[in-house]
Order: sequence, then structure tokens, then C-alpha cells
Amino acid sequence: MDDARRSNALVCPAYQGYPRNQWYVVAFSNEVKRELLQRRVLGDLMVLYRTEDGMPVALADRCPHRGMPLSKGTLIGDAIQCGYHGFTFGATGGCVRVPSQDAIPSKMAVHKYPLVEKWQWIWAWMGDPAKADPAMIPDHHELGLGRAGYTASAIFCMEIKANYQLLHENLLDTSHIQYLHPGQLDNDNAGEATFKTEYLDDRIRIVREMPNTLLNAAMARLFKLPEGSLIDRDLVTETYPPNLSVVQNVFREPGRPNDPPKVHVIVPMAITPGGPRLTYQFTTVATSYPEQRTKQQNDHVWNVFTQDRDALEAIQQGFDELGPDAPEFSVKADQAALRCRQIITDMVRREEARG
Ligand SMILES: [Fe+2]
Repeated sequence: MDDARRSNALVCPAYQGYPRNQWYVVAFSNEVKRELLQRRVLGDLMVLYRTEDGMPVALADRCPHRGMPLSKGTLIGDAIQCGYHGFTFGATGGCVRVPSQDAIPSKMAVHKYPLVEKWQWIWAWMGDPAKADPAMIPDHHELGLGRAGYTASAIFCMEIKANYQLLHENLLDTSHIQYLHPGQLDNDNAGEATFKTEYLDDRIRIVREMPNTLLNAAMARLFKLPEGSLIDRDLVTETYPPNLSVVQNVFREPGRPNDPPKVHVIVPMAITPGGPRLTYQFTTVATSYPEQRTKQQNDHVWNVFTQDRDALEAIQQGFDELGPDAPEFSVKADQAALRCRQIITDMVRREEARG
């Protein structure tokens, strides 16, 4: 294949690669404590903990001496003592103790991942630390996290045994809610809703318009609106490749498109590849009304998301049986998803080209 054609060729969504010179959410703040947490991110094993001063730390989870995972060791002060031969590594990743000798080899160290803790998310830079630029982290105010008048909560992290590209595409084509989540998120009207797609630099925004939607019981409960009433609904997905997808529900009085929304619910989801077939979906919600989220509400969202998880895992398994050349037949509604696929593919190829 010549270079021009290759640059336009799309990768199979079950086998998308991941750009490393990016920030990815690796944990919610409350998951990282004064104990060692192992997490697999972009194929790497990482160990996370907090220093005595409360700063989060992420190190490569492998003792350079004999390869023992450091997460199986002991946190002593701000350092990890390996559980095999007691080699000890400080919060900078440098070795601070070799029990069998006084001299510490100067090169003995583990990789330290740059971290930024913002709102209730911990973002890690997975590439060359010299290139880590916190300005690349999406603006949290824009996401509704910490925005005045909005109530924001971290809900849960779902693990999906499928490639993260499949999740981005699931969230970009919200027409699926009518068929995958019947009666739970729409009134049988999402599939045929008119939509418009916008491309803003490297972002993708798709708006599905559902005027005069009759609020069924499940939607009324979920969005705190009166059951049986009519409402104009916009269902918006904005994708920030490769690490974030934001779904918004905007409800307005019918026929009053310029009024402020009656209800606005923003669902920012950090999307992080654990590996080629593992994805984390760090789900949060920001509502335009005050709320103390209940377990019942969160369980409802969890149950809906398990339907997506099961679908994506089945799709991944199908590709794994048929291989990356298994055909897909796309229609107009897939343009946004294909654009997302292309943007991430290009990001990966640009990194590969630079070596
Ligand atoms: Fe879904």
C-alpha cells in the first residue's frame, strides 16, 4: 500500500493502538490511598499510592532487580520496599536502599509517571515525561466538573474486555440506546432522531434532536422531570480523542430552543486503554440541579452500562474469531465514529513515524 493510501486507511476498531504522549485518567482520587494499588494502563503495570503529604505517585510496577511487582511490597514512609529482596524505591522512582550493600547503583530506578490530580480524577502521562504538558488535559470547567451551579459526582469505573475504540464509537452513536437499552434512556425515538455532526479541531460533536419526547417513567426518574410530560431533548456526544467522551442531555420546554435548559445533565467519561483488549470507563455526572446521588441511581446507570460492556465484549470476541479484516458496512450515522477512528489512528501513526 502506498503512503498516501495508508495514511487514510482505518484500523479495525477492535485493534486500535494508543498514542502514549497523552494524559489518561488512571484512577479516581479516592482509589489512591496509603496502600499500594496495581493498575494496568496502556499495557504497562503501574503501582499507585500517596505520599505521607497526600501526593499521588505512579511508578512502573516492576522491581528492576529481579522483576518482582513492587505492588506486592510494603509502603514505608514515601518509599516502596520490594517484597522479594527488600530493594527500596522512593517517590521519584530512584533506588534508596539495597539491603546487601551500601553502594546504590546510580542507574537503578523505576519509571515515574507524571501525574496531575484534577477534580476527582488522577491523570497520568504515559509517554516521554519531557513532553508532559498539563495544558493538554481537557478543561474540567467545560465538562461541568467544578462548574458553579452544577453538582458533580464520580460514579464508578467500569472495566470492559474490549478495545477502547469500540467504546468511543458506542458513545458517538447514541442511536443505540433505543435497541440496546430499550425503555431505559429514551422513548423509542433515538434510533430515527435527526442528527448533525460538527468537527472542532480534533474534537467531534454529534447532536441528536428529539423534539416533543414523551417522558416515560424511567427517563423521568433518571432526569428528575415529570413523567408523562412532553419535552424537547438534545442528546449530545462530544469526543476528545483519545481519552474522553462527554454525553450531554439537554431538556427544554417544547418549541423554545433559545430558553435555558430546564434540565442539563453532563456525563463526562474518561476512557483509558488498559491494554489492547481492556478499557476503563471512569464515569462521572454533573447535573444542573442539586442532588445527593443515591446507590439506586448509580446502580441504574451501572446496569445500563453493563449492557454496553456485554455488547462491546461480544463484538471484540467476534473480531478475535474473524480477524482484523472482518468486514463492517457503514452508513451515514457512522461518520462521526469513523472520524474518531481516523483521528486516533493518525495520532498513533504520527508517534510511530517519529520513532
Ligand atoms: Fe449504551
